Amino acid sequence: MSQSDILVQLRQELGAIVDPDFGVSFEELQAIHTLEVKQDTSVELYLEFVPPLHYVAKGFDEQCKAIILKHFPNAEVMIYVREKELPTNPVLPQVQNLIAVASGKGGVGKSTVAANLAIALAHTGAKVGLLDADIYGPSVPTMFGLSGEQMKAEKKEDGKIYGYPFEQYGVSVASIGFVMGRDQAAILRGPMLAGYFTTLVDQIYWGELDYLIFDLPPGTGDIQLTMTQRIPLSGAVIVTTPQEISLADVRRSISMFRKVNVNILGIIENMSYFVPPDMPEKRYDIFGAGGGEAVAKEVGTSLLGQIPIIMKIRENADDGLPFVADPESGEAVHFYKDIAKNMVAEVRKKNRDKIATPGLTITL
Ligand SMILES: Nc1ncnc2c1ncn2[C@@H]1O[C@H](COP(=O)(O)OP(=O)(O)OP(=O)(O)O)[C@@H](O)[C@H]1O
Ligand SMILES: [Mg+2]
Repeated sequence: MSQSDILVQLRQELGAIVDPDFGVSFEELQAIHTLEVKQDTSVELYLEFVPPLHYVAKGFDEQCKAIILKHFPNAEVMIYVREKELPTNPVLPQVQNLIAVASGKGGVGKSTVAANLAIALAHTGAKVGLLDADIYGPSVPTMFGLSGEQMKAEKKEDGKIYGYPFEQYGVSVASIGFVMGRDQAAILRGPMLAGYFTTLVDQIYWGELDYLIFDLPPGTGDIQLTMTQRIPLSGAVIVTTPQEISLADVRRSISMFRKVNVNILGIIENMSYFVPPDMPEKRYDIFGAGGGEAVAKEVGTSLLGQIPIIMKIRENADDGLPFVADPESGEAVHFYKDIAKNMVAEVRKKNRDKIATPGLTITL
């Protein structure tokens, strides 16, 4: 085969690799930016993909390398993976993906899910922030072992005062609880709450982030509506437990988000079942079974995963060391890790649409 035939073949093989999040080939995604082959000695490949890339970049690199080495076994191979540019959001331009964790019903485990997902994302090498937007009952200070801490603030060049998030377990965290005590926060009402939320969004110095996770207060009232309209969300995940009473609230949550054109990334079913640690062959469906799956189907979104009831998850939250951050949690952390991965796949799908139709907003 001539050198040019080899090149054609190589390009074809690289172009046939499939991005697993879209089920679409590199060729169709226009992922191959440049391929430079210098005689037999070096091959340089520049790739471009829809962000975020933390879960997929390594796999792409390895697959491309193997294909290149098959054709040029002695070449030095250099692969550069770059993110395609997203339209920047006007509210928090340094934050790439804003994700709300919401629920219609209180106490379903939203804050615990938000904290553990944030840490799971940080473990992939991403820069992650967590904003405790639950202004009524902030729980981030306790869950992150930071209760009683006060946020440090500083006047910046633009004359505005900014608060600095705390760095804990690889995540930047901020909460109204760092500005006022939990008891004070509980007596805030209506318009004041919206004002505090705006302050939290505008006046926290996050720096560059791949993800900012919002732990929203439970419910579908005015506060949640104001918050979701105020921030240009990549999407929302809805946390529920499997029983019917909780699922009715999921439907309400989803219709609220859809009304204000927020994408739904999927549903997370928490407290799905219980396996007694001393009887691992048994499984109890304490809050019923299959609800998350059924409601996801009904509303046309995906079930991102299920998390069983694990006593240690609750103990960890109370002790200020979230389950995923605790090296003693063992392989059960995969419940959160798998969900984080599935969630990011959904974020990438939404980002692909955004890149395809930049600046286009349709309001009906
Ligand atoms: N999978 C789980 N296994 C065991 N305990 C859990 C699990 N998920 C959450 N919990 C515990 O359940 C309680 C409620 O969780 P959490 O505070 O996260 O709920 P929430 O939806 O944020 O509540 P709120 O609506 O009050 O904000 C906490 O004590 C938490 O530690
Ligand atoms: Mg909460």
